Amino acid sequence: MIRILITGICGKMGENLMNCVGADGDAEVVCGVDPAGGSPHGVAVYPDFTKVPRQPDVIVDFSSPAALGGELAYAAERGVPLVIAATGYTQEQLEEIKAASLRTAIFRSANFSIGVNLLAKLIKEAALALGEGFDVEICERHHRYKADAPSGTALLLAESANAAYGNSRPLKIGRNGIEGKRGNEIGIHSLRGGTIVGEHEVMFAGEDEIITLSHSARSKAVFASGALKAAKWLCGKPAGMYGMDDLLNS
Ligand SMILES: NC(=O)c1ccc[n+]([C@@H]2O[C@H](COP(=O)([O-])OP(=O)(O)OC[C@H]3O[C@@H](n4cnc5c(N)ncnc54)[C@H](O)[C@@H]3O)[C@@H](O)[C@H]2O)c1
Repeated sequence: MIRILITGICGKMGENLMNCVGADGDAEVVCGVDPAGGSPHGVAVYPDFTKVPRQPDVIVDFSSPAALGGELAYAAERGVPLVIAATGYTQEQLEEIKAASLRTAIFRSANFSIGVNLLAKLIKEAALALGEGFDVEICERHHRYKADAPSGTALLLAESANAAYGNSRPLKIGRNGIEGKRGNEIGIHSLRGGTIVGEHEVMFAGEDEIITLSHSARSKAVFASGALKAAKWLCGKPAGMYGMDDLLNS
């Protein structure tokens, strides 16, 4: 039985992951770290990592970048594998994650759905096939509570397209005012409202034709089940950085 600690256990994804683990015979949630406190799912919740009394087998983080410092120190010191599902990290924090992965196994993905990861591959293929003559614009839609913009998934998809262009296209987050003719940037646009789980649309616009590839998540359960698969897969892996490609190709 794999013993899981959930960072951000009191949030919406924390609840989804609790439900997913509850329906799984091989894993259990032993505690959570969340300053919101209480014990919403009948397991102990600690305000930060210094208070966690017993080491879990793996940590799954669906919280916020604010949790990262204490979490990385805890995981790296003890060699506890860590699945990072939260989004919105700064470049500096991404470097900290990389440095900690020299000491423990870290799995990070901005999106744990198989569909989005397939979409990322299709986007790269489309960009390679269509070539420089097509402009790329990404539009993402999420619920009114989402803290970060653009979504981590939009950035992940932009990275996939850009890989096909040898990383030559700068990202342009939104447009405003008289900006003139567009360059070769990848535009990213964020819409927020209601209870939208997560929608991503990637448009390749060329001379007289447009190709659009998209993904729509209908429930948050898809992310929880992907993160649980990653957590089980990560246990026992040597220190290093892992991602969805490693999981899907294994
Ligand atoms: N990778 C994916 O597939 C995927 C899918 C959905 C959501 N997410 C990401 O997961 C995160 C959580 O999403 P949500 O919808 O559950 O948000 P939420 O706001 O409902 O929950 C976040 C929880 O984190 C807690 N938190 C805040 N600061 C903390 C800290 N310092 N330490 C520990 N806990 C802390 C909050 O109290 C809250 O309970 C977001 O970053 C979101 O973008 C990722």
